[in-house]
Amino acid sequence: MANQADLIVGLQWGDEGKGKIVDHMAQTHDYVCRFAGGHNAGHTIVIGDQTYALHLIPSGVLNPEAKNVVGNGVVLSPVDFIKEMEQFDDLEGRLFISDKAHLLLPHHALIDQARERMKGDKAIGTTGKGIGPAYGDKVARVGHRVGELLDPAKLTAKLMAYFEMYQGIFDVMGVELPSEAELLAELAGYKNVLEPYITDTTLLVWDALDQGKKILLEGAQGTMLDIDHGTYPYVTSSTTVSAGAASGLGIAPRDIGRVTGIAKAYCTRVGNGPFPSEDHGEAGQRLRDNGHEYGTTTGRPRRCGWFDAVAARHAVRINGVDQIALMKLDVLDGFDEVKVCVAYEVDGKRIDYVPYDLEEATPVYESFPGWDKTEGVQTFDDLPETARSYITALEAMVGAKMGIISTSPEREDTIVRK
Ligand code: IMP
Repeated sequence: MANQADLIVGLQWGDEGKGKIVDHMAQTHDYVCRFAGGHNAGHTIVIGDQTYALHLIPSGVLNPEAKNVVGNGVVLSPVDFIKEMEQFDDLEGRLFISDKAHLLLPHHALIDQARERMKGDKAIGTTGKGIGPAYGDKVARVGHRVGELLDPAKLTAKLMAYFEMYQGIFDVMGVELPSEAELLAELAGYKNVLEPYITDTTLLVWDALDQGKKILLEGAQGTMLDIDHGTYPYVTSSTTVSAGAASGLGIAPRDIGRVTGIAKAYCTRVGNGPFPSEDHGEAGQRLRDNGHEYGTTTGRPRRCGWFDAVAARHAVRINGVDQIALMKLDVLDGFDEVKVCVAYEVDGKRIDYVPYDLEEATPVYESFPGWDKTEGVQTFDDLPETARSYITALEAMVGAKMGIISTSPEREDTIVRK
């Protein structure tokens, strides 16, 4: 059997707690690779008295033995990436950036923010980091790639021509652009820092696969934010599902082996867009408080609600999930009843799949008896019986085993089932 990579993917609207599982798995992998998204993602890792904020650098950076790959499917903001790199002093030889990744430059963030302002109450609620405009330029074939940083004068000329082409639009949006001299200085600065890391990461990953290295593919955001399979247009601009790992790194689908899908024991979403199982009342507030549901990248309070088994089943199928890691079970501790969205109703009809327009769907709930405490529990058998029944019911609804269950932010409070 050929060597295959392990994949971690979010099954909900992002923020599923992938960080804890990826950090854990990064300790036993030789390579950790990001394949999509940009610095819109983020998690914080505490090791001893040090806190690290990771947005785009793969989580393997905290394992001194691991090599870290930023794949071609990523959009990279050099200024933000360099800031993130400054947290570490030993990156050479263990951080590799694809020359084919697209550049996200300061004007992309300004366009993102201007578009959101212009949309008013129809705004997507983006992170404002420039993700959509950077991917937009890539697909419109007017983007620029990381490899071009190696010749700052040439890239400056190309960007000045691009700025001129879109000048009218930038004026309407109030986007201020750098002068030619400023741009050249900025790009030359990026080249100085990033040059040692820029390479053909596709060849690198192929070699690693051929040598039997253990490779972890680290997804960002979640399935319901996927550009094709999420709640368009309230999505991010990349392929967040497992298929994106193949194109975002240049590997074949058959190079991907075990897929671990990450889901919280309830549901959250940041930004606008449909979220059928959202709870606007006391339960939602309690989930937000207990789960510390505030964005790591933007600090925004997250919208909270119940586990959506319909959306999770959709995500299990799309991603080819082998096992689920169920996160933050302890956040449901102390609820008298725990609800699960088991179906939707659209136009008075009950359906069990994610419809074209999720905005039209109302949730159909099933209630489960709650439990006192799962916090800190480390074996499945030690969970309260009602919590075990909840998990078993979810497994049947979504069609995948919950092989990992997390009962607190601590690394050791993780149930791994045989
Ligand atoms: P963008 O990716 O900044 O364009 O934002 C598009 C949508 O994706 C918004 O609803 C964001 O809140 C959401 N989003 C982007 N990145 C993340 C993430 O890492 N976690 C959760 N939501 C995200």
